[in-house]
Amino acid sequence: MAEKNQNQYQLPKSNAYRRSDQESLHTMEDEEAKRKKRMKWTIGIIAFVIFQVVQALFFVLVIMKFKSPKFRVAEFDIQSLTIGTQASPSFDMSFVAPIRIKNTNWGPFKYGASTVNFTYGGVQVGQAIIPKNKANFKSTKKIDVPVTLSSSALPSSSNLGSELSSGIITLNSQGEIKGKITVMFMFKKTKTSQMNCTMAINTTTKAVQSLSCK
Ligand SMILES: *[C@@H]1O[C@H](CO)[C@@H](O)[C@H](O)[C@H]1NC(C)=O
Ligand SMILES: *[C@@H]1O[C@H](CO)[C@@H](O)[C@H](O)[C@H]1NC(C)=O
Ligand SMILES: *[C@@H]1O[C@H](CO)[C@@H](O)[C@H](O)[C@H]1NC(C)=O
Repeated sequence: MAEKNQNQYQLPKSNAYRRSDQESLHTMEDEEAKRKKRMKWTIGIIAFVIFQVVQALFFVLVIMKFKSPKFRVAEFDIQSLTIGTQASPSFDMSFVAPIRIKNTNWGPFKYGASTVNFTYGGVQVGQAIIPKNKANFKSTKKIDVPVTLSSSALPSSSNLGSELSSGIITLNSQGEIKGKITVMFMFKKTKTSQMNCTMAINTTTKAVQSLSCK
């Protein structure tokens, strides 16, 4: 009886002990949950920062990279060609010059009016007028301009005579366009593109035998 009493007396004590043990277990679980939550937040914030940095790098290295558009003459067919003799060298020709403005930027290139000069031995023999316009983003603007070239402006000292006897007429085309590239509707940069093409025209076939642009 005395033993039982003792047991009854001890029971609340041991219960009290168990309760405080459970409480400390609970607070430990709370700590663990808080720690996990903090960890999740930290990982989330780091991931967000990395995402922002990658996005900014992509923006700066890809989108914001302003490149000068390529300005050149593409391959073309001669419509008419008449040549003089070696004693009285001359040429007259006409063709449709395929002028190309290749814009590789992530935004349109708006350019002003310009001219492409065709020269023989440094002397202008014809011209193509380029009206102002724009080349859309990541695309090539095609401008087909009818051109007539004449040797009438050449000095008698030119080596056209000897070139004609070899069956080739070497021409150059030079030009410059200046314009503005706009990226994301607000970032603008002015760019200038040069054209410098050399073309060899075969007088027998009356065709462009070679064409290269710098
Ligand atoms: C012009 O073209 C013809 C036919 O292709 C060729 O036989 C000739 O060699 C060319 N002339 C020159 C100067 O290359
Ligand atoms: C083309 O010729 C015109 C004169 O006819 C000159 O004003 C212009 O600067 C020339 N352009 C180039 C790129 O040489
Ligand atoms: C154009 O290129 C030729 C060589 O193909 C070079 O001799 C000439 O100086 C260049 N002209 C310009 C204006 O860059």
